[in-house]
Amino acid sequence: MPSLADQHIVLGITGGIAAYKSAELTRRLMDHGAQVQVVMTDAAKAFIAPLTLQALSGRAVRDTLLDPSAESGMGHIEIARWADRLVVAPASADFIARLAGGMASDLLAAVCLATSAPVVLAPAMNQGMWRKSATQRNIATLKADGVTILGPASGEQACGDVGPGRMLEPGEIISHLTHSGQAKALDGTHVTITAGPTWEAIDPVRGLSNHSSGKMGYAVAAAAAAAGAAVTLVSGPTALDPPPGIQYRPVRSAEEMLAAVEQDIEACDVFIGVAAVADYRPAQSENSKIKKNAESVTLELVRNPDILARVAQQQKRPFTVGFAAETDQPIAYAREKLHNKGLDLIAVNQIDEANNPFGSDQNRLVLISKNDEIDLGRDSKSALAEQLISEIAHRYHGPHSA
Ligand code: C5P
Repeated sequence: MPSLADQHIVLGITGGIAAYKSAELTRRLMDHGAQVQVVMTDAAKAFIAPLTLQALSGRAVRDTLLDPSAESGMGHIEIARWADRLVVAPASADFIARLAGGMASDLLAAVCLATSAPVVLAPAMNQGMWRKSATQRNIATLKADGVTILGPASGEQACGDVGPGRMLEPGEIISHLTHSGQAKALDGTHVTITAGPTWEAIDPVRGLSNHSSGKMGYAVAAAAAAAGAAVTLVSGPTALDPPPGIQYRPVRSAEEMLAAVEQDIEACDVFIGVAAVADYRPAQSENSKIKKNAESVTLELVRNPDILARVAQQQKRPFTVGFAAETDQPIAYAREKLHNKGLDLIAVNQIDEANNPFGSDQNRLVLISKNDEIDLGRDSKSALAEQLISEIAHRYHGPHSA
C-alpha cells in the first residue's frame, strides 16, 4: 500500500459541519505514517474540539497567528517551512475566498500564503454557496495558482439540500495524497515545448500567421507537468490560459520563439516542437501601416529558422520530438522529416475529411520513430497528450537514438 511515512502534513480545518470528518482524517493520516500538525480557524473550533485533534495527532493544535509562545512570534513561517504538504479539509467558502484573495488574516491563511509546499483543498459548503459565481471564480483562481481542489462530492447535505458541496470522505482524500506522492514518469526532467502559431509582421497592423489554436501544445505542456517535469512553454499568440505551475514565455514571431527556446536549451532534457511555425517572414517589416495607393504590391518573403532542427542539431541535444501536419502521404513525409531534422520521435497529425485538428479539441496522432510506428487513434487532445508524454518518458529513460 502506498504510504505517507514521515511526511509532514499540516491539516487545516475551517468552520463547517464537515469538520467532524477531520478527526477521522487525522487518524487515517497517522495510520499511514504521516506526522500531522493540525491548524484550526476560530470557526472550526465551534464544530470540533481542539482537544480531540490534539489527542489523535499527538501534537498541540495551533490556532493563533500572533502566538508569543511560537518561535520568534512567527509561528506561521515555522509551520509553513515544516510542511511537506498542506491539506485544508473542510475548506469553507469564506476560507476559499480569503485564500484566493491572498489574505493572511488568521494563522491557517497565513501558513497557506507563506508555504512553498503543495496546497490541497477539500471544499465543503451548502450547494448554493458552491454554485455561486463568486465561489467558482475563487476556485478557478486557486486552480490557476496551482492549488489542488479535491471534490466536493454531490449528494444530500446536512442542511437538507441536495447538490454539490459535500466534503470528500477521509478515505478519498488519503487515496489522493498517497497516489500523488508516488514517483512520476518525468520527475527531475526539464521539458521545453513550443506551441501555437507564429505571427510574422508585415506592418504594425498586418501579419502572416496560421490557424493553429495552440490546444495540442498546451495539452502536451499540461501532461508533461502532470508527469512531474519542470515545463517551459514557449507560445505564439493564442486565446488560451497557460496551464498552472509551468514557466510561460509568450512570443510572436519565429525569431522570437527561437530566442526564447535558446535561453535555457542547455538545461533541457526533452524538447517537443508543437508550434506551427511560419516557414517564411516578410523580408522587412514596415514601421508604419502600408497605404493602399498601389494597384498591386509584392511581398518578399525570406525563410525562417527551423527551431526544431536547430535544437536537434546541437552537440548536447535533448530528446527531440517534432510534429507533422500533412494532407498527402503524411507517414512518408513524416519519416523523411524524422530523418532530415534528426529527431527521436515525430507525432503525425492525421488531416483528412474526418479529422481536421486545427482549433478542434480532438485529434488523431501516429507516432513514428526510427524503429517503430504507433497509431494512438482518435481522441481528445488531452488524452493524446498524456499518451504522447508516457511514450516519450518511456523512450527517454530507455535507450534512444540521441
Ligand atoms: O518542416 P515542418 O514545418 O513540416 O516541421 C514541423 C515540425 O517542425 C514541428 O514540430 C514544428 O514545431 C517544427 N518547426 C520549427 N521551426 C520551423 C518550422 C517547423 O520548429 N521554422
